[in-house]
Amino acid sequence: MKSLNKGFQLQIGNHSEYKKDWPQLVYQAFGPKGLVAISFWLGSLFSEQIRAIHKSYPFLEIVGEPGAGKTTLVEFMWKLLGKADEEGFDPSKATAAAVSRKFSQVSNLPVVLIEADREEDTAKAKKFDWDELKTAYNGRASRARGMKNSGNETYEPPFRGAIVITQNAEVSASEAILQRITQLYFDKGRHSRESKSATDEMNVLPVKNLSYFLKQITMAETRVMDFVATNTPIYEDHLLSLKDIHSVRIAKNHAQLMSLTDAMSEVLGLPDNQRDEVIDCIQDLAISRQRAIVADHPVVQQFWETYEYINNDEDEPVLNHSRNRELIAVNLNHFVRVANEFKQQIPLLSDLKKYLKTSKSRKFQSIKPVNSAIETRGESYSQPKTVKCWLFTKEISQ
Ligand SMILES: Nc1ncnc2c1ncn2[C@@H]1O[C@H](COP(=O)(O)OP(=O)(O)O)[C@@H](O)[C@H]1O
Ligand SMILES: [Mg+2]
Repeated sequence: MKSLNKGFQLQIGNHSEYKKDWPQLVYQAFGPKGLVAISFWLGSLFSEQIRAIHKSYPFLEIVGEPGAGKTTLVEFMWKLLGKADEEGFDPSKATAAAVSRKFSQVSNLPVVLIEADREEDTAKAKKFDWDELKTAYNGRASRARGMKNSGNETYEPPFRGAIVITQNAEVSASEAILQRITQLYFDKGRHSRESKSATDEMNVLPVKNLSYFLKQITMAETRVMDFVATNTPIYEDHLLSLKDIHSVRIAKNHAQLMSLTDAMSEVLGLPDNQRDEVIDCIQDLAISRQRAIVADHPVVQQFWETYEYINNDEDEPVLNHSRNRELIAVNLNHFVRVANEFKQQIPLLSDLKKYLKTSKSRKFQSIKPVNSAIETRGESYSQPKTVKCWLFTKEISQ
């Protein structure tokens, strides 16, 4: 864990001052979801190591109505890392260069983006484009910066931290971004006198009573990474076995949080029933995430996988009859024949006919005759042939 910036000072308390039962305050205030946030926060301290084995670390979105407790939770989590009075920064108020700098300043620490959900662009605040974050998921630069020299080199600092987004409205962005986000929604529905007294205490606890957390966790690196490496694939398989989850990315993101929950429970000493409750909560989050994003039916997904495998070169189409580069035109009988030649597993033709109309990753357009870019009539190659095709618009980049 390191900060690449002198302005970023962490003040670490010692063990004797540590209030080590603080997780119970978080639980009392926010229930299992509060502890999900903690497991993400803990994981962000190892985001580089996690990306090294899994290639990615998700974004965490903390949303909910005003007054739900988002600021309270995030400020508390910063205190665990030794920072007082910190919440995050508003990317829509910063210049592009400043945003880029913020992203490259830290490694193995969270970067919190706050309240960037303004409705429209104004002169001062340009609506932040979440799609800029896409590459940060895999730890690549969020944007290239021009170098201050006479050449045209750009500097692309890798992203080594973890992204937390907190705001009142949900992020509205492309599906590609939504798939990368794990979302925690907080509302005032579960506020009670007990939760209020817990948040009051969270608000007044000083950094020195909490920040030993950072040392405790970084010292447990080997154990944490063992949990992550061993348990993530098991949770991932489990999530994908549920009928409600079919996005591999959603399963992976949430499986990572589950294995981090196991690590957190051991290192912080949470009771088993509480750990189980947090794990169940993450499973529910994965299911609702899957519902929230438009995902294709498994039959359709399998169709596109086979299609991509066979028709892998757009310049020498094997399955795509379309002469229009924006479209994909497939004749189903032809598809079945070619897939068999390629010894590819394919869904039943009747299922394809049933589900392909729902295709979203490449949106279904219509069924109509197409002047084929692949087949010609008879011996003479000059004679065009018309084939009946299912038309789809090409995929928006994922
Ligand atoms: N879980 C909770 N239960 C009861 N009261 C809460 C809870 N979370 C926050 N509050 C109270 O609500 C007020 C607003 O919280 P805040 O964190 O600023 O909300 P947000 O950032 O979501 O708008 C705080 O003064 C806090 O004491
Ligand atoms: Mg707030």
